[in-house]
Amino acid sequence: MSQIEKRKRDHLKHFRNGEVPSRSRTTWLECVEFVHDSLPELSLNDIDLSTTFAGRKFPVPLTITGMTGGTEEAGEINRALARCAQDFGMGFGVGSQRAMIDHPELIDSYRVKQDAPNVFLMGNIGGVQLANRSLDDIAAALEAIEADALCVHLNPAQELAQFEGDRDFSGICHALAEAVTNLEIPIIAKETGAGIGLKTAVKLQETGVRYIDVSGVGGTSWVGVELLRRGLENDPAFNCFWDWGLPTAAAIVEASSVNGVEVMASGGIRTGLDMARALALGATTCGIAAPALRAWFEGGEKELYNTIENLLSGLKTTLCLCACKNLDELRRAPKIVHSDLKKWLEQRGIRPKSLSYLGME
Ligand code: FNR
Repeated sequence: MSQIEKRKRDHLKHFRNGEVPSRSRTTWLECVEFVHDSLPELSLNDIDLSTTFAGRKFPVPLTITGMTGGTEEAGEINRALARCAQDFGMGFGVGSQRAMIDHPELIDSYRVKQDAPNVFLMGNIGGVQLANRSLDDIAAALEAIEADALCVHLNPAQELAQFEGDRDFSGICHALAEAVTNLEIPIIAKETGAGIGLKTAVKLQETGVRYIDVSGVGGTSWVGVELLRRGLENDPAFNCFWDWGLPTAAAIVEASSVNGVEVMASGGIRTGLDMARALALGATTCGIAAPALRAWFEGGEKELYNTIENLLSGLKTTLCLCACKNLDELRRAPKIVHSDLKKWLEQRGIRPKSLSYLGME
């Protein structure tokens, strides 16, 4: 078994008994309050959750983001998650395809289109691999699974926490620009739990990347996962980075303040109310990873479908209680930003587009 396959198997192991969450920080989505409306004057059935992302229209603003591939179990998980995503009209991402590029015999564990031909399928590769491998190899890997988009994960914190991780993060912007120009599918830049802020989003926009999955702090901690794998959770040199990064709410506002950029909100999205808050801050869609995997491990297909239904029903409830018929109205609905998120935005001098009328100047 190659080192990458072993790592992928180790990663799944840490999620079998639950998530690996942030320790001391939250997403800060709880710093956004909606104003309840007791006279919504609309029927729950008339609420429209549809959105667009990466040039596609989706009936619901939710995606299962990339997690796995490269082992037989990973293949089974990918197919199950992709079928579920297709049934709800959501997007679905496979985990890093690096293992498959090195070992073409692993391709079946990433192939889901036989089971879910209509799912919006996102391929996945690390920024460092994009910078160091031929674009032809990456294009071939995407074609082999019939990917509709490519997610490029930018994860320096995770790599630095990994014994065998990458140490050189140069050349990624140039590689992203090449990929945007030469690949025929949308490129989505994503983090893996440390958040993408304004400065990174501007650099991405300059490369031509138009879609960002912020994957912020407050959900799965990838530094945490790597520390657990190393057995070094008590090592002060790395332990202090467990919660490193931008909380998801701050990342959404920062990244979506860049013109022409569409944001997927992920990192600790756990309820429909979290989704509503993320969308109200400027995201056009949301993503979950660990909750889908945990549901699958805990109760298979039934638990997976329940988890998605609960998220969407919570979102619909929020829209109803704010008297909003659709996500545009939710973005314009009155809301208050307080506590840590308010302080962060004041110090950063960033005013969320969706809150411009709230007197945050
Ligand atoms: C991930 N994530 C991830 N991301 C990526 O771009 N490539 C990958 O291969 C993986 N692998 C992976 C494995 C597992 C088991 C999990 C739980 C997650 C990161 C994932 O897509 C997401 O950005 C973060 O997990 C934050 O979302 P949640 O888990 O807080 O909902």
